[in-house]
Amino acid sequence: MSISRREALIGVGGAVVGGLATKFAPTSIYHSAPLNVAEYREAARRRLPKIVFDYLDGGAGDELALRRNTEIFDRIEFRPARLKDISKRDISTELFGKTQAAPIMVAPTGLNGSFWPDGDIALAKAAEEVGVPFALSTASTTSMEDVAANAGGDKWFQLYVLSRGIAESLVERALKAGYTKLILTTDVGINGMRYRDARNGFKIPLPISPGLVWDGMTHPAWSLDFVLNGMPEMGNFASADASNTEQQAVLMSRSMDATFDWAALRWLRELWPHELLVKGILRADDAVRCIDNGADAVILSNHGGRQLGDAPAPIQVLAETRARISAPILIDSGYRRGEDIVKALALGADTVLLGKAVLYGLSANGQAGATDVLKILMKEIDNTLAQIQCPNVRDLTPEYVAAVDRSLMGPQGSDSSTS
Ligand SMILES: Cc1cc2nc3c(=O)[nH]c(=O)nc-3n(C[C@H](O)[C@H](O)[C@H](O)COP(=O)(O)O)c2cc1C
Repeated sequence: MSISRREALIGVGGAVVGGLATKFAPTSIYHSAPLNVAEYREAARRRLPKIVFDYLDGGAGDELALRRNTEIFDRIEFRPARLKDISKRDISTELFGKTQAAPIMVAPTGLNGSFWPDGDIALAKAAEEVGVPFALSTASTTSMEDVAANAGGDKWFQLYVLSRGIAESLVERALKAGYTKLILTTDVGINGMRYRDARNGFKIPLPISPGLVWDGMTHPAWSLDFVLNGMPEMGNFASADASNTEQQAVLMSRSMDATFDWAALRWLRELWPHELLVKGILRADDAVRCIDNGADAVILSNHGGRQLGDAPAPIQVLAETRARISAPILIDSGYRRGEDIVKALALGADTVLLGKAVLYGLSANGQAGATDVLKILMKEIDNTLAQIQCPNVRDLTPEYVAAVDRSLMGPQGSDSSTS
C-alpha cells in the first residue's frame, strides 16, 4: 500500500505551525551551519522522522559493532613527525590507475530516496563535484540508468545477488550504463537483526500508521519533500517485467541468494570485464582467497555494524590483511573524521568508503549537504597531514600511528608482547 496525497498532507499539517526551518537549528549564536560530521548527524536527526533516522543510524543486535566502529579510533594514536616542510600538501591518490581528489568515496547505500528526493543522484553529483568515486546500491531508489544519465563522475555498481538470473541482468545493465567497477557485497546472505527497524516497523513502502503520521507532523520539512516527490521505490526493479514471476517473488520477499559461495564468485568474475571488488571481508585469509579467485580488490567492512551485532571493526584486521595481499584494500565502517581516515591510510588502506557520514549530509541538506561533508573530510585529512607532518597522503606509513596503550608503557612496554 502506498501513501495517498491526502494522508501525507495530514502528516505535514504541522508544517505551518512548526515552520520549515528545522534543517539548521543553530548550534551556536555565532555559526549555524554544521561544522563537522557529528554536527551533520544532529542536523539529520532533526530533519528526519524517527523511523527513517533509525534506519540510517541503527545497527544490528545490541549494536556492539556499531559502537566499536567509532570507538576503535580512540585506541589508535598518531606519532607526529617534526621539522618537515609541510608548506605544500597533497591529498590526491591513485586507485586502479585513476587519480581521485582524495582517498575517500561514497559507499553504496540502499533507499537513499527516503533521506532526500532523488538521493542517489544527489550523492553521485556530490561525489562528482569533489572528484571522488560514487557507488550505487542494488537497492537504490533511482534506477542505475537514471543515475548514469543525470550524474557524471566515476560511478561503481554494488551488487546484491537476489538470484543468479537477476544478478546477470543487473551486471549487464551496469556495464551498458557505464559503471566502471563492480562491488559484490558478501555480508547480506540474510538481513541482520535490526531491532530499531523491527520496533518501528520500517519497510518500503513506509507503512501508514498513526505513529508515522505523528512522526511526519513533527518533521515537516522532510514530510513536505515526501508529499511533493512521492514514495521512494526500488528503482532498479520499478520497471521489472511483471510477467517474470521469479523476479517478482524474490523482490517481494527481498531475500538474497544465500547459496552464493567461492564457486559463485568465480562465476561472477567471468561475467564482469572490469575491476571486481569484494565487500564485507573481515579476515585476512578471506582477503587472500578473494584475490586468488579473481577479485581485483577487497573492501574490509562490517556493513557499518548493520549485519553481525558483535562484528570486529574492520581496522582491527587491516594491518594483517595488508601484510598478506598487495592488491588495493578499501575499508569502511565508522569513519566520521579526517583523522580516522588518515589512521586507516597509515595502516595500509587505499581508500575509505563513507556510508553514514555522507548520508547525514544528504539528510540534512541534500546534495549541498553531502558535498559539504565530503569537503569537510577532505579539509580534515589535509589538516591532519599538516599536524603529523606527512605532507603527501601517499607517503603515510604505519610509523605515523601506534596503539594508545603501548605508548603508555615506554620503550620496554612497546615490546611487552614478546616478553
Ligand atoms: C542506510 C544504509 C544503507 C546501506 N545499504 C547498503 C547497500 O544497499 N549495499 C551495501 O553493500 N552496503 C550498504 N550499506 C553499508 C555501506 O555500504 C557501508 O558498508 C557502511 O555504511 C559503512 O559504515 P559507516 O556507515 O559507519 O560509514 C548501507 C549502510 C547504510 C548506513
